Amino acid sequence: MKALVLAGGSGTRLRPITHTSAKQLLPVANKPVLFYGLEAIAAAGIRDVGIVVGETHMEIEAAVGDGSDLGLDVTYLRQEAPLGLAHAVLIASDYLADDDFVMYLGDNFVVGGIIPLVDRFKAERPAAQIMLTQVPDPRSFGVAELDARGRVVRLEEKPESPKSDLALVGVYLFTAAVHEAVAELKPSGRGELEITDAIQWLIDAGHRVESTVISGYWKDTGNVDDMLEVNRLVLESLEPAVHGRVEGNSELIGRVVIEKGAVVRDSRIVGPALIGAGTRVSDSYVGPFTSIDTDCVIADSEIEYSIVLSRSSITGVRRVEASLIGKDVEVTPAPNTPRAHRLVLGDHSKVQISS
Ligand code: G1P
Repeated sequence: MKALVLAGGSGTRLRPITHTSAKQLLPVANKPVLFYGLEAIAAAGIRDVGIVVGETHMEIEAAVGDGSDLGLDVTYLRQEAPLGLAHAVLIASDYLADDDFVMYLGDNFVVGGIIPLVDRFKAERPAAQIMLTQVPDPRSFGVAELDARGRVVRLEEKPESPKSDLALVGVYLFTAAVHEAVAELKPSGRGELEITDAIQWLIDAGHRVESTVISGYWKDTGNVDDMLEVNRLVLESLEPAVHGRVEGNSELIGRVVIEKGAVVRDSRIVGPALIGAGTRVSDSYVGPFTSIDTDCVIADSEIEYSIVLSRSSITGVRRVEASLIGKDVEVTPAPNTPRAHRLVLGDHSKVQISS
């Protein structure tokens, strides 16, 4: 069995961060979201992984390499344009050959891994096995309609009037039967070859499609709110540890991790919170559910429920909340008079100012 991991796409809902970075590499508890998926694949005993990459291929390749650190043998497959999930299967068909495979969307976060799913698939070998979960607003997902016995009768991609609240989770298992389906597809209204349509094709052609409704935690980390929420969840199981220095009149409360080379001075950190390697926190408050990545400076500031990427600095600002701050960002107060906001914002930035 192989895995096909999708790490292309343009990440429009995470702009401007995704103007310069792949969405799959955004950190959750200071580790790229993609790595959680790759680890789940390795844990399920799968070694051969094809990673479909697009414009951000260099960054993904630099982060994952040949996969050997994760116990994987990674092959990169280039998708020239984000033409859909089924298009990714199409371009991977030589790599996948006749093997069964798990398709894993690189920005999806599934708690609990995929071992039970893979085991069930190996035992039953339907043409496709999908995972479903109840969501409050299914309109931004693939949506499944089940019959009275729980079998999938119809799937619809991002329907305006969903027939159920069961969304397709971004982890799918297939036999080689799916290749015939993707070869028959026509682009959808959004111009993509939809995996949802490929699965529907399998159902219509009389193939067996099984589903599991999961109640566990799942998020598509496609937007800021979901990123913050997944980060919160992962931080909740942090094991407190201090590998850096805690100096002066500082206080660490609850699940706090201070990574190697980080310095916390005269500050109060209320966990769960993660202070990355080489980061300096001084005269500040870092509140629950905050991840500060490597080599940042937090000085004379307050921050809570936020993610800060590497090498950024926040100085003299209170308070930052529910924020996603990219790499090499500087946040400081403006000069006092006249009272003004001074902004240098990239395209597609979003700023909410309390005034
Ligand atoms: C894709 C699939 C959709 C699925 C979702 C899960 O959506 O097309 O059926 O529910 O992933 O994350 P997209 O990420 O392309 O919007």
